[in-house]
Amino acid sequence: MSALPLSPQVFSILTMLIEQRSGLHYGPEDRDLLSEKVSSRALDAGFDSLLDYYYFLRYDPKGAAALDALVDSLLVHETYFFREPQALEALVDEVLVPRARAGLQPRVWCAACATGEEPLTLAMMLDAKGVLADVSLQASDLSLRALERAKAGEFNLRCLRALPKGVEGRWLDVVGGRPRVRPELVAKVEWRQLNLMDSANFPGPETFDAILCRNVLIYFKDDTARRVVDDLTRTLKPGGHLLVGTSESLMRFGTALHCEERRGAFFYSKASP
Ligand SMILES: C[S@@+](CC[C@H](N)C(=O)[O-])C[C@H]1O[C@@H](n2cnc3c(N)ncnc32)[C@H](O)[C@@H]1O
Repeated sequence: MSALPLSPQVFSILTMLIEQRSGLHYGPEDRDLLSEKVSSRALDAGFDSLLDYYYFLRYDPKGAAALDALVDSLLVHETYFFREPQALEALVDEVLVPRARAGLQPRVWCAACATGEEPLTLAMMLDAKGVLADVSLQASDLSLRALERAKAGEFNLRCLRALPKGVEGRWLDVVGGRPRVRPELVAKVEWRQLNLMDSANFPGPETFDAILCRNVLIYFKDDTARRVVDDLTRTLKPGGHLLVGTSESLMRFGTALHCEERRGAFFYSKASP
């Protein structure tokens, strides 16, 4: 299949539409990549012009669903068990275990969980400390496809690349070459679809002791990322923590959150009263 021509003008309006819906930002260097991905969907839907396809996405009654499907096909769900584990270990040992043992029922939100390896890693770490039942874990992603895979508890072998010893056989089994997480662990996580652009649908203010929003803000422009951080911060309890990926930093936004280093990981903390 050859890609349909994508003029700079159509690239500009199409990327704006995608960005408004998902936050995903595309620069001019992404034109070939985007043109290939969008062309295949446009051709499948019977369009031979990307401008016509844009009008369909924007104005047709079926356009919103087609735009969601297009966005879903663009999302990058790269993740694996025990990714960047120092931050998770610090969160478990220094925040969640003490609060759970004090009977405070801490709540955690993994706000872009992809296929679920991140919240499930956290669940394994909490179980290892004997406090899994005392912590509430919520996980969300924009992609329904990714969430379906998370809820099925079935993964691929690439997700095991950083797996420490002792996990397989305890929380996870490889059956017929497919890693499977034990259903009771998957059931411990409350999964839901949520778009980080839709703050009106976010959980209520001051709900969470900690939020993980790792390896997703890199796909957004700075002002979008800043807005998302502000919206997430509202849902943190006073003294709660926001964790982003190791290659991401909130310092460039001049965030009101207080940044502290714990075991080599950055914790962005909301002021206590
Ligand atoms: C690279 S994965 C990161 C997964 C995990 N947090 C980790 O660090 O391993 C990025 C995820 O962000 C999700 N995502 C992108 N834009 C989003 C949005 N607007 N709302 C919610 N999730 C989004 C994607 O669907 C994808 O699953």
